[in-house]
Amino acid sequence: MNPIIEANGARIPAVGFGTWTLRGKDCARLVEQAIAVGYRHIDTAQMYDNEREVGEGLRASGIARDQVFITTKVWPSHFAPRELERAAKESLARLRLAEVDLLLLHWPNPQIPLRETLGALCRVKRTGLARHIGVSNFTVALIDEAARLADEPLVCDQIEVHPFIDQSKVIAACRRHDMATVAYSPVARGGVQRDKVLARIAKAHGKSAAQVSLRFLVQRGIVVIPRTSRVERLSENFAIFDFALSEAEMAEIAGLARRDGRIVDYAYAGAPNWD
Ligand SMILES: NC(=O)c1ccc[n+]([C@@H]2O[C@H](COP(=O)([O-])OP(=O)(O)OC[C@H]3O[C@@H](n4cnc5c(N)ncnc54)[C@H](OP(=O)(O)O)[C@@H]3O)[C@@H](O)[C@H]2O)c1
Repeated sequence: MNPIIEANGARIPAVGFGTWTLRGKDCARLVEQAIAVGYRHIDTAQMYDNEREVGEGLRASGIARDQVFITTKVWPSHFAPRELERAAKESLARLRLAEVDLLLLHWPNPQIPLRETLGALCRVKRTGLARHIGVSNFTVALIDEAARLADEPLVCDQIEVHPFIDQSKVIAACRRHDMATVAYSPVARGGVQRDKVLARIAKAHGKSAAQVSLRFLVQRGIVVIPRTSRVERLSENFAIFDFALSEAEMAEIAGLARRDGRIVDYAYAGAPNWD
């Protein structure tokens, strides 16, 4: 089972496979195997330099195209309107797809007016290159601004979410706009394995700390896109629908959030030069 999260008309499978750092044949093989395990949502990006292999894995799986939700992202150095459309077309050419299910702005780019970038993103959607559009690494203020400026619905904000970071304000902003929150780094890049509270809760359910972390997020209606380079962990990270966390366990895990819990440096978002 892999529940669907509905957001502004999009139907996003709750568990997706993240592919950052996966390259070449390994990437194609893992995507193929993820689909064999049951994943129906794959997350890539122009910046990951693996769209070609993601497309290969998808085709090798033999699954019908409309059964898998494919997300890619445009890097901020291509946010000028004409460049954005060209970047989207180049991603599709590498993936060998006619359209992606979701196209995201990878990070905010303060150097280019958001209105112009969103105008181009909406046009890309209307020309049929992307079924849905959304953003990534947007703050509450930027989500509100983007929702006001876009004349097509935005379906998600993809942000860092795991038990060690409190993203409740951004998650609430997404809900206000009927957008999904997509959690990247949902197992804190393996960090969940070192936490005693997660270890105790995991033991009580006969699960791993990573599974508890993923379950915690999905149980809050958040989409997760864990990455692994190990075949055996593909099934581990997918096996989160045969147990449930109690309210007390959910509250205890929420209490693990700390001020320095962020992994990905958000200062990145203000980078003066994206090239
Ligand atoms: N929009 C953005 O700016 C952005 C930023 C970061 C990531 N992302 C997306 O989100 C995806 C996931 O985030 P992420 O790659 O940063 O972090 P992640 O999925 O939280 O962690 C991946 C790391 O955790 C390990 N791991 C995976 N499953 C595990 C398990 N069951 N037990 C123990 N360790 C486990 C993996 O090691 P092994 O390979 O050894 O299993 C890998 O080193 C990315 O691949 C990418 O698609 C997006």
